[in-house]
Amino acid sequence: MPRFEDTTGREALLKASGLKTDRILDVGMGGCACMSFFLARLGFAVTGVDRSPHAVHVARQNARTKRLKGPFVARLANAHNLPFEDGAFYAVISFRSLHHIDAPRSVIREMFRVCRPGGMVLIADLNAVGRKIYKHEPDCDGLLRMIKRVAGRLSAYMTFENTRLDWFLACCKIIDPIQ
Ligand SMILES: C[S@@+](CC[C@H](N)C(=O)[O-])C[C@H]1O[C@@H](n2cnc3c(N)ncnc32)[C@H](O)[C@@H]1O
Repeated sequence: MPRFEDTTGREALLKASGLKTDRILDVGMGGCACMSFFLARLGFAVTGVDRSPHAVHVARQNARTKRLKGPFVARLANAHNLPFEDGAFYAVISFRSLHHIDAPRSVIREMFRVCRPGGMVLIADLNAVGRKIYKHEPDCDGLLRMIKRVAGRLSAYMTFENTRLDWFLACCKIIDPIQ
């Protein structure tokens, strides 16, 4: 995927979530850790996870060379089995990662598990324009339909928006699920 930075999608996602600063988990941060760094610079306490040791190494190196000021920790972890307790984070985010992850349905559930009740699960991935520009054609529309179904059952409400290159869902985790 060619790399050029587009912060408008990241800004829009954050605005829709209404988040100020808190503990946030970035799932599939990648070596660039672009979303993690974007949030850490705004004062969020960010934990980024990736299953690739190389990505984790590069993210840590980037944090040092870019002299990242905000609180940021990079950890090696598989999104299917996040090494955190239930409700450990106020918000859990995945930015352009889910189409890289096998069996993303269980990852959505795992993201909701580690998000605290009333917190936000934020998911963004490439829309048709983004796929064309990046010359990368994963089935993000099928992914979106699946996420809406799974997240819909776990959310008090969901906001959907399109930015220039991405769609995103901002989901508020339900507080009292009916057993
Ligand atoms: C395109 S990159 C992420 C981009 C980044 N989130 C951003 O803000 O631009 C996708 C990342 O997902 C990671 N990944 C794929 N499967 C994963 C899994 N099961 N658990 C954790 N990370 C995974 C890959 O190693 C890769 O670094």
